[in-house]
Amino acid sequence: MKTITLVTLSLFASLSLANAEDKVAAIAHGKSKFMVCAACHGMDGKGLKLGPTMMMAPGYKGSKVVEGDPEIFALVLLKGIKKEGAEYMGMMAPLGAALNDKDLAGIMTYIRNDFSEKKDLITEEQFKGWRAKYKDRNEMVTRAEIAALLAKSGAVKKDAGAKAPEKSE
Ligand code: HEC
Repeated sequence: MKTITLVTLSLFASLSLANAEDKVAAIAHGKSKFMVCAACHGMDGKGLKLGPTMMMAPGYKGSKVVEGDPEIFALVLLKGIKKEGAEYMGMMAPLGAALNDKDLAGIMTYIRNDFSEKKDLITEEQFKGWRAKYKDRNEMVTRAEIAALLAKSGAVKKDAGAKAPEKSE
């Protein structure tokens, strides 16, 4: 019995070690591709400022998309967000053609670990699954759809996500 527990424990320990190593690698890869996002969201993830009041894009901190159900984050990256307002100069374009599954999974892992409280690993396989699931969808995601998906995922209260996050400063 004792041996079984020990074997189970060390198996578990080596599994979580492998996961930790994968996460470090994914974060490093994501960081190396992050320039694509930094062009609008800033190198510090706070949103690039254009003069005193205008911004290219929202910051990641406090974003329910960033720290919620990762499938919603992936959908936003794959299809982009339909531009409905003028609060930001930039537009969240679909990035599924520009970046591969490894790049996008790495970027998600980097952002969730460095700019949010969600410190998990998003794998290339997970991203591949989401890409396949949404391959026939061409429309961009609307803010209303994001809000509905977030509410359905149970992560947040009903209309969070209906607006892009507030400017941080
Ligand atoms: C050309 C500018 C631009 C680039 C490049 C860009 N984004 Fe965005 N992003 C935006 C804008 C603008 C919004 C807000 C869109 C809206 O709500 O209408 C946004 C929204 C988002 C959101 C949703 C935030 C929320 O809570 O609503 C996420 C997540 C996001 N971007 C991640 C990324 C990642 C990751 C990359 C790089 C792979 C990236 N973006 C590249 C401009 C950009």
